[in-house]
Amino acid sequence: MNSATGTSFAKIILIGEHAVVYGQPAIALPVPTIHLTAALTPRGDAAQLIHTSYFTGALSDSIATDFAGIASLVTALLAHFDAANQGFELTIQSQLPAERGMGSSAATATAIIRAFYAAFATPLDRPTLLKWAAVSEKAIHGNPSGLDAATTSASVPQWFVRGQAPTPIAFPAAGSLVIADTGLLGQTKRAVAAVAALREAQPAQCSAHLTAIGAAVRQVALGLAQSDLPSLGAALDTAQAELAALGVSAPALDRLIQAAKGAGALGAKLTGSGQGGCMIALAATPAAAARIEAALQAAGATQTWRHDFAESEDPA
Ligand code: MEV
Repeated sequence: MNSATGTSFAKIILIGEHAVVYGQPAIALPVPTIHLTAALTPRGDAAQLIHTSYFTGALSDSIATDFAGIASLVTALLAHFDAANQGFELTIQSQLPAERGMGSSAATATAIIRAFYAAFATPLDRPTLLKWAAVSEKAIHGNPSGLDAATTSASVPQWFVRGQAPTPIAFPAAGSLVIADTGLLGQTKRAVAAVAALREAQPAQCSAHLTAIGAAVRQVALGLAQSDLPSLGAALDTAQAELAALGVSAPALDRLIQAAKGAGALGAKLTGSGQGGCMIALAATPAAAARIEAALQAAGATQTWRHDFAESEDPA
């Protein structure tokens, strides 16, 4: 093992969360200004030490903590590289808030996998990276679509359908997203389980909501291609109404969404698993985005970020 680092980005789901678990498409984008780094350094002794903001200690002690999903990934990577007893320090530095729908767990997995492959001087292709990320995402979230890992490991916006290779998608040259954090944990596993329970209790209604989200995703794809921001905003509003009907919104999210709309957002919705976490609002111009950001802060957002579509690199 050599010393090596791996990096990854935060992700924002523009539209399609939850429905993507059941085969509908979703559109997500990496936010390169919010990133995560995993640094791996070999040790001369057999100690295997982890340093993160939420767990510090021996790998073997992390099994009963929130780090367990990632720990199982690290253990599997060590076995894969025939290095089960290799001593190391793994230090994770993250600008992503945990459990806020920004893909923190998938970003952690992605950076760690990249660091291990680099430390063992082994080339890593995208399908292999996504297979490895599924190890911890499954342990952490139960039934992940793979969308988070696909986006946190990408550098351009992604069109994603479960079970298929993600494809880059072009974004318009204008328009901004304002992202705001409710400050409440997002609870992906619980939110995904809530939709699964509803699907069992009320299959027809649930399926209608999921299909309506899929239709809104396709409307967004067209809106992106035509740079039609009003149509895009309307589709975001539709998705939010459907997500609320699925039971994954929350009063704190609804409050921020109303504040954004009141400040002129073209559309606004939760992003990620919901039941807490973050929301996004679409603004036509940077000036409108600034007004919406101020309104979200006044309405109690604990943190806000801006992402201008013009900053999304051309996927070509
Ligand atoms: C979580 O960020 C996104 C969900 O659609 C779950 C998943 O896709 O695995 C809620």
